[in-house]
Amino acid sequence: PAHIFAPRLNSRGVELGDDAARTAFFAAIAAAEAPGQPAAPLISGQPAPGRRRSVVSPADGRTEVGVVIEASAETATAAIAAARAAFPAWAATPAATRAAALERAADLMEARRERLIALLAAEAGKTLVDGLAEVREAVDFCRYYAAEALRLFGADAHLPGPTGEDNRLCHRGRGVFVAISPWNFPLAIFMGQVTAALAAGNTVVAKPAEQTPLIAAEGVRILHEAGVPAGALALVPGDGAVGAALTADPSIAGVVFTGSTETAWAINRTLANKRGPIVPLIAETGGLNAMLVDATALGEQVADDVVLSAFRSAGQRCSALRLLFLQEDVADHMLALIAGAAAELTVGDPADPATDVGPIIDLEAKAGIDAHVDAARTAGRVRFEGRLPGGTLARGTYVAPTIIELAAAKDLDREVFGPVLHVVRWKSNGLDRVLDDIAASGYGLTLGVHSRIDGTVKRVVDRLAVGNVYVNRNMIGAVVGSQPFGGSGLSGTGPKAGGPLYLTRFAQEQVVSVNT
Ligand code: NAD
Ligand code: ALA
Repeated sequence: PAHIFAPRLNSRGVELGDDAARTAFFAAIAAAEAPGQPAAPLISGQPAPGRRRSVVSPADGRTEVGVVIEASAETATAAIAAARAAFPAWAATPAATRAAALERAADLMEARRERLIALLAAEAGKTLVDGLAEVREAVDFCRYYAAEALRLFGADAHLPGPTGEDNRLCHRGRGVFVAISPWNFPLAIFMGQVTAALAAGNTVVAKPAEQTPLIAAEGVRILHEAGVPAGALALVPGDGAVGAALTADPSIAGVVFTGSTETAWAINRTLANKRGPIVPLIAETGGLNAMLVDATALGEQVADDVVLSAFRSAGQRCSALRLLFLQEDVADHMLALIAGAAAELTVGDPADPATDVGPIIDLEAKAGIDAHVDAARTAGRVRFEGRLPGGTLARGTYVAPTIIELAAAKDLDREVFGPVLHVVRWKSNGLDRVLDDIAASGYGLTLGVHSRIDGTVKRVVDRLAVGNVYVNRNMIGAVVGSQPFGGSGLSGTGPKAGGPLYLTRFAQEQVVSVNT
């Protein structure tokens, strides 16, 4: 229907090409006030006790960004009980009232944009430009789900009644939704999950990633200030064990999860092994995302799009390009262009406007990526390595953009979550083999195609069941409402976040048939 695809406005950005606008924007971020309050468990608006821990900057492990009070499993259970008690009132709240609260939250985030960007840089190591994109995405989620709540839940849908009955379909909240989010989009994904569940009439217990509780606490404060009742949204900071306790609770009505495929499997097992209602799991997970480039592609455009897709956000995007397939006739030329563009990237302090690539989220993650690159170096397979920052930044968790050439696609069998691009050459008569290799990974999140042959593009798109396909452009930064995001297979269950089917999965359907 036309209304699903109606044009809508996304959150406003900053004209970074304009000197005055850019200078004012960076100055406002530098002047932004740091968060003073700890990220504490919050149940019915009341802070709960827990274990106190410092949250440190990934850019410099000696800088404390703030303090988190981590919840125990008992606190997690108490949060669910409180959210259950709050459910009837929130479910009975008109969709228009729920939507209005989300609209106000969007306005508040826009008003506090620079402060949020500063916190994203300090806590998650996001560059300022990535932070801007992230705040905009969080705002877009709020407004999109507010509009969707009105479209889907504002009024009952009348169904045919050929025998004279009045048949009506209505949607209502399911109960308590547990929302578990990752550190790599600690505001946008956190707010997206929470606002979708709230918009559909559920109450929510949210557990942010252990690396990024401060920005999540800001998001919760904003939602409460915007009019979401204190009881309808609880925050329980903590590690995976807290997430496991929440998902094991027999009284929850659903789980929305974004993170690794391994954790999604663990949650699936937990849900399967407990008694109680059979509840949905909405899981958005990782990818082994490929881009296919043939000899007709435009070299400079490929280089720009590859560098952005593989190295932006230090490769810490689920959508990031991991495996680049270059047709062999142009492979050397393309590799030289890509390495040339990658050499222009500045790795450094995320709070510095000149930085293109910030740090890896923590030392453990950096060690895993370093070990992967070291093994490739020993095997003589590294084709390009960027420069690491020096001076005081040397103690940060930086990894330089790196290009590794593989003998075959099967040599990469897991998601390496950092700025590491893997390249494989393919023979002119070998397109089917490439498509088989991509399909064989079992993931299906994002895919890039660079070709000026329509038939090739169609062959690739038709063959591969991948959630988001990008043709002759970069493959990151899906826009809410325009590029609903999410994959299939090992990459997730669907439905797509920021798309017209998303909210229905958070809701219970009820049909009322009245004999008139
Ligand atoms: P992760 O799976 O380690 O953690 C995600 C969340 O799950 C955290 O809050 C963590 O505490 C929690 N958790 C861990 N064990 C748990 C358990 N047993 N039960 C319940 N919760 C548990 O992932 P991460 O390292 O935070 O994030 C990176 C991963 O997320 C990558 O694989 C990336 O591709 C994926 N990701 C996917 C999308 C998407 O939309 N498809 C978006 C962003 C990130
Ligand atoms: N939605 C994010 C992107 O498209 C992960 O890059």
